[in-house]
Amino acid sequence: MPTNSETSLKTIVDFCRRKGFVFPSSEIYGGFSATYDLGPLGTILKQNLLQAWRDWMINYRTDTVEIEGAIFMHPKVWTASGHVNSFSDPLCEDLVTHKRYRADHLVEEAEITDNAGGMSIEELNKIITENNLKSPEGNPLSEAKVFNLLVKTHLGPVEDASTLVYLKGESCQNIYLNWKAVQETSRRKLPFGIGQLGKAFRNEITVKQFMFRTREFEQIDMQYFVKPGTENEWFDYWKKYRYSFYTEFLKFNSENLKWHQHNQNELVFYATEAWDIYYNFGALGYKEMEGVHNRTDYDTKQHQEFSGTNLTYFDVEANERYLPYIVEMSLGFNRMFLASLFEFYNEEKLENETRIVMKFPVKLAPYKYAILPLMKKDGMSEKATEIYTNLRKAGISTDYDESGSIGKRYRRQDENGTPLCVCIDYDTLTDNTVTIRNRDTMTQERVAISELETYYLTLS
Ligand code: GAP
Repeated sequence: MPTNSETSLKTIVDFCRRKGFVFPSSEIYGGFSATYDLGPLGTILKQNLLQAWRDWMINYRTDTVEIEGAIFMHPKVWTASGHVNSFSDPLCEDLVTHKRYRADHLVEEAEITDNAGGMSIEELNKIITENNLKSPEGNPLSEAKVFNLLVKTHLGPVEDASTLVYLKGESCQNIYLNWKAVQETSRRKLPFGIGQLGKAFRNEITVKQFMFRTREFEQIDMQYFVKPGTENEWFDYWKKYRYSFYTEFLKFNSENLKWHQHNQNELVFYATEAWDIYYNFGALGYKEMEGVHNRTDYDTKQHQEFSGTNLTYFDVEANERYLPYIVEMSLGFNRMFLASLFEFYNEEKLENETRIVMKFPVKLAPYKYAILPLMKKDGMSEKATEIYTNLRKAGISTDYDESGSIGKRYRRQDENGTPLCVCIDYDTLTDNTVTIRNRDTMTQERVAISELETYYLTLS
């Protein structure tokens, strides 16, 4: 498999729009900054990616459960969690247009360093002054100041401080609030994990890299609760397990992945240790896809104190009571989605043309089969429709296409990432066999219709 270095973001954005993986949100109104809708192919790809995560993190294990929390939470949650005071980015203002920009991004774009995210506000201001950095419009900049990322709204009949609520700044907070309820109702002992897929909202200022940084996004989290003193062991364990999710289970090329450890300045307020899995987003370079964090007992301690509810665990074996430590694995869905598009997008030079083919592993491919009648006449469409509906009823995601030459239809399905095309011809009508064409090898094989329900499972 090639690495992605040559693939531009524009190639992926245009491809996603053309094929119906992703549409800009509110497109007919000119779009709305950094919000996207998934089209038909994108929606199925999303389900398959989430299923892969669920299989690897929940279904294939015996020590994890999943919950689904509400988006609105008591406003005190965000004070207790530290987000009201500390969840911020450094911003500079263009003194002419009054537009705001991330100071760390301006420093990185000026190629002074590629890791300005780890700098203090004083360091950023020093670099901006010493290098006389300007806004992207070429205007002078204000000093960088901290800017809170929480998205606020009001619930109720009046809009005042008493009705202020925050949208979730990170999806995992209700796992901490519910941790004891989950432990008791599911009769768990430490160590065990609580997973969740949930929305998060951040008032991000720099949002120009397609789905990479958006203001509304989903986080797929596993919060693993452990006995204090065992967290480092578990941290190492989960780092390896998460990495192998990409390399072994999703079949990502390991050359497209690397680790990045947060230095002291980069560490977010709740973590004592943090390692990011970086992915090679083509011409964008290697960027964060997932974070593994040691959150200690920071969150349970804060919520215990602010709520006045005892959140400790009674360890029967040790006959002692303590607040568990938490190892967090937090993955942004958009980034996994975008990574899978970069990972499996291929342009292959054939004799007289370039073939675009999404080489998804079967478990990720939106459609496992495409049913293609050779011609619309003599009962071939009817037979193809019968096979198509039977496969869908059997729970196998299948597409149908009868327009254009068979060659054109193969190319369309290559772009969809469909691993197998099934051609229905005159022989099918008499002997109930079909020709199967393999996306990757482009070879063909004759098989019985009755084999289709299991045939795709033989591919990896
Ligand atoms: N609960 C931990 C947490 O929120 P984070 O590093 O801020 O940690 C975790 O976020 C993951 O969420 C990131 O690794 C990234 O994949 C994703 N993420 C964060 N901000 C994002 C944004 N604005 N747009 C898309 N994904 C984002």
